[in-house]
Amino acid sequence: MQNDIQEVLYSEEQIQSKVRELGAAVSRDYEGRNPLVICVLKGAFIFMADLSKNIAIPIELDFMAVSSYGNSTRSSGEVRIVKDLDTSVEGRDILIVEDIIDSGLTLSYLIDVLERRNAKSVRVVALFDKPGRRTVDLNADYTGFSIPDAFVVGYGLDYAEHYRNLPYVGILKEEIYSNR
Ligand code: XMP
Ligand code: MG
Repeated sequence: MQNDIQEVLYSEEQIQSKVRELGAAVSRDYEGRNPLVICVLKGAFIFMADLSKNIAIPIELDFMAVSSYGNSTRSSGEVRIVKDLDTSVEGRDILIVEDIIDSGLTLSYLIDVLERRNAKSVRVVALFDKPGRRTVDLNADYTGFSIPDAFVVGYGLDYAEHYRNLPYVGILKEEIYSNR
């Protein structure tokens, strides 16, 4: 697995330290509000677990799975809900936990769905952001790291369902995905 990584972008320690900062910011901003924190599966599952342990106020957790049509390294913008929430979002303060923002299409679709369901507020925390790749006007309220346009894996992020269990985030060697 290690051999398929061209370069480690963020070590386990760097990620953990950033996640603590994000958790502290969320705890401060949502003091007294009991937000519903939504994990976007599967990519955000490790980030959700670590972030939630660093949020020091009462929260509720829920999970949503979406799939975007298109090939495995680029999203097409057509999003489908594969697993919906168990919880009603009506009147709730929502915090969406996402692994990475690329074109922004997945998140703009999700935000739109939650607003149409009458959420009171919708904010986004994204661990990684590729601002150079945006096709819609969308920014996270909390961002961990801005990264260049390279395909990254680890810490929840996959290529063809592999590498999610790496504790760090790295750039995948291009030959891994161009040869298939
Ligand atoms: P959009 O374009 O809708 O894409 O903002 C967001 C989703 O695309 C996936 N994505 C990646 N997954 N490494 C990955 O493992 C990457 O570098 C990467 N870039 C985008 C991811 O599923 C994210 O939720
Ligand atoms: Mg994803």
